[in-house]
Amino acid sequence: MRKKVIAGNWKMNKNPEEAKKYLEEFIPLVKDTSAEVILCAPYLDLKCMVKHTNGSNVKIGAQNMHWEETGAYTGEISGSMLKSIGVEYVIIGHSERRGYFAETDETVNKKIKAAFANELKPIVCVGETLEEREQGKTKEVITAQTRLALEGLTNEQVENTIIAYEPIWAIGTGKTATSEDANNSIKEIRDEICKIYGQMTSERVIIQYGGSVKPTNAKELFNTSDIDGALVGGASLKPEDFAGIVNY
Ligand code: PGA
Repeated sequence: MRKKVIAGNWKMNKNPEEAKKYLEEFIPLVKDTSAEVILCAPYLDLKCMVKHTNGSNVKIGAQNMHWEETGAYTGEISGSMLKSIGVEYVIIGHSERRGYFAETDETVNKKIKAAFANELKPIVCVGETLEEREQGKTKEVITAQTRLALEGLTNEQVENTIIAYEPIWAIGTGKTATSEDANNSIKEIRDEICKIYGQMTSERVIIQYGGSVKPTNAKELFNTSDIDGALVGGASLKPEDFAGIVNY
């Protein structure tokens, strides 16, 4: 059986002081969970969060990284920099990065490879727009994004990739995909991985759902055959809400 992996994505919220306060409240609330718990925070918070989660079951992730190690890339952060301060995970290809910062399937693929080169675990986001959904293109879009993101990875790397299926129309809108819909899309992603990497790998890969996950809908989403946890935005900003999801 696959483990549930529940990751918070703070986006551009909380400074180091606020992050520390959050962790003081949050860590005791989730200490008994069997799920893997991850918080993905702004770069500036990461070092202090790694320090304050030491000895707890809460892991720390970044929300983006560059694919090069060093160089003239003003404003960017590399995988080796994240690794050097003890970060373990990194979100790659979030729809906000694809939409507002022109990330493509190609840069997503490069970043995933760079993450593995630095022993970081990527959380890779895929998902369709409302328009694509209404045109009946959901399966085509999410399987293509998955295929291109994973291109050139070994089976072992694919098994260590976390995929987050996040329908764009459900992010931050309060609209959640029904658990049946989300589960179906996730199955389509798993089938695509099965076609390329075989059944064993497809059964091992963790595929989360993301998009307006809350304490009130987490249980229904998680009690499905293929949803292995969640990537949570808004509801991860308050310790008691996020803990409510983790302890579904
Ligand atoms: P949301 O965001 O939970 O606020 O919808 C999810 C995400 O963008 O990862």
